[in-house]
Amino acid sequence: MKRRSFLKGAAWAVAGAAAAPLLSSCVREKGSPDLGVAGDFHFGPGGSFKLLQFTDTHYIAGDPRSERALRCAEEMIETERPDLIIHTGDIVFGRPDIESAMEILRPLAESGIPWAVALGNHDSQFGSTREDMFAAIRELPGCVNLPPKDGVYGCSNDVITLSGAGGPEHVFYLFDSMDAVILKGEEEIHCYDYIRHNQIAWYRAHSERFTRENGGVPVPSMAFFHIPLCELSEALAAGILPLSGTNGEPPCPSRLNSGLFAQFREMGDVKAIVTGHDHDCDYVLDYGQIHFIYGRFSGGDTIYNHLGPNGYILSDTHTAPGTVSGCRVFQFNEGERGFRTWVRLCGGAVQQQLDL
Ligand SMILES: [Fe+2]
Repeated sequence: MKRRSFLKGAAWAVAGAAAAPLLSSCVREKGSPDLGVAGDFHFGPGGSFKLLQFTDTHYIAGDPRSERALRCAEEMIETERPDLIIHTGDIVFGRPDIESAMEILRPLAESGIPWAVALGNHDSQFGSTREDMFAAIRELPGCVNLPPKDGVYGCSNDVITLSGAGGPEHVFYLFDSMDAVILKGEEEIHCYDYIRHNQIAWYRAHSERFTRENGGVPVPSMAFFHIPLCELSEALAAGILPLSGTNGEPPCPSRLNSGLFAQFREMGDVKAIVTGHDHDCDYVLDYGQIHFIYGRFSGGDTIYNHLGPNGYILSDTHTAPGTVSGCRVFQFNEGERGFRTWVRLCGGAVQQQLDL
């Protein structure tokens, strides 16, 4: 944990050195939540739909340590041929940041497959504002993210639906979990940002509409964002063990709990919270009505990562020999409220097949 705390601190130091504001310009406080939907997808001819999640590619253009991330993205798309791709953030990890994003997202843009991003804390720490980074990403072919919404904090807040013959059967919410906030003093206490009240109001407005239009029955939903919630730490502290996967480090959520998890429970639709951020975790944990699901680290060697082909590799080094990148996949079948998930590794192995 000491190693990791240092790395996280170093990242903030980078942000400070670049004079990048911790609170991005991409924060809007006026107007009412926009109820537009970024994409409405439909099941394929066989009645199934496959969603692929990349996370934490930490790409740096021109850096050979990033080659593994690019190879991983190309191989995962080619192997799984999903219907939709979601990148849950920390797309880049250095300058030139927008060029880095263009390079690592190129396999997505050239795949012909629709895709979206939920930005990570590092995606606005290397010179460009969050708004500029998001605008550049949105220009790429296949990106379905809508422009930032008036009155909703952050940039990458979007709703995607998966519909059957009778309307939406699954809803995917993308939240911008932003970067960091200063709790006390310039240097003293930072913490990761938190989901703001206006983001929760935006979610609730969509959720209420979907439930109302579904005859009062909540539509099974998933939430995708970068930084996990405090409740994951609480679940682990309560002794709940993952159903599958590797738990290689403690979660690093915000210290501020703004109540998103409680809202998910209250609305009764979100059944899975899918994040990245903690590179040495790729597990699924059942916390009663909601599953916490980590993506599989999809990066190269620009940042710490120790997930081997069969789990966590104990090592004091920044990256461990034998580390394997990959992705997480979700498959939905028409008429079914649940889904299947698994982790796909570079090289072809499949792990953690679960029906949830
Ligand atoms: Fe990361």
